Amino acid sequence: MIFDYLKKQRELIDRYIKELLPKGKPDILFEAIEYTLSSGGKRIRPILLLESARAVNPDIEGENIKEILVAIEFVHTYSLVHDDLPAMDDDDFRRGKLTCHKVYGEAMAVLVGDGLLTHAFHLISSNRYLSPEDLIKVIRIISEKTGLYGMIAGQAGDILPDFEDVNFIHQHKTAKFMEACCEIGGIVGGGDGQVQDALKNYGFSIGMAFQIWDDILDEVGDEPKLGKKVRKDKDKNKTTFPKLYDVEVSKKKAFEYVEAAVELLKIIENRDILAQIAKFIVEREV
Ligand code: IPE
Ligand code: IPE
Ligand code: MG
Ligand code: MG
Ligand code: MG
Repeated sequence: MIFDYLKKQRELIDRYIKELLPKGKPDILFEAIEYTLSSGGKRIRPILLLESARAVNPDIEGENIKEILVAIEFVHTYSLVHDDLPAMDDDDFRRGKLTCHKVYGEAMAVLVGDGLLTHAFHLISSNRYLSPEDLIKVIRIISEKTGLYGMIAGQAGDILPDFEDVNFIHQHKTAKFMEACCEIGGIVGGGDGQVQDALKNYGFSIGMAFQIWDDILDEVGDEPKLGKKVRKDKDKNKTTFPKLYDVEVSKKKAFEYVEAAVELLKIIENRDILAQIAKFIVEREV
């Protein structure tokens, strides 16, 4: 049931991405951006934002905040394009297709990432549904949680061979971004402080589960299903949960984060979808 629901939401996000896709010259840059965005990710981060907003206010339409939803996916997709570069994880496949740099070259892939990131903030500034004060909050949260105090710090830890603090890495490279999505959803929905905090902490907790599960899938997942190469973390001696705790203990830890996330939702009446998304994270094969 949640799979069908998520598929529908994914299609909605895909429609907004298509609608707001940047167009311009040189042709090859915009072709590379379209190639990278049209390659079927789960769109889980914008979905989390929208569902967090709907949990607070069921009348919220995706249409009202489509610039923000698309911006979130642009920031995520930029992070993957750069993550896959030879200087970082050196991956040839992503979402079942050749990575951006494999098709368009490394220099263009760097620019695709730069372009997606900067354009995300341009898009946010063009939203007319949220108040200017709320838009500034959105910009502040995204730039903090995906920037130097979030994803970039985590990615830096991830590529350093001696940096073994797996909790720091996972919190920063993945959990804070999901935290940001749910926190912004709470703002869009107009929740009070307590509800916003609950959503924020829910996002963080499922973010931890999400990255632990990503590590597990790298060890035991199915390559064609995942659309990216497996067992690469071991080859690169990455600091992951399965490396430190083995797969079974890692699974248990992921389940605990999901349980904690579901518990946090208790104060939100309309919590069913978010609770199901939390469980989906540790059931997914992709
Ligand atoms: C992959 O993210 C990178 C991680 C943070 C683990 P997703 O698993 O959300 O990737 P797509 O967008 O669905 O391809
Ligand atoms: C990526 O983590 C996290 C990002 C912030 C991009 P991974 O390097 O484990 O993600 P995959 O496995 O390549 O998707
Ligand atoms: Mg990586
Ligand atoms: Mg990677
Ligand atoms: Mg991984």
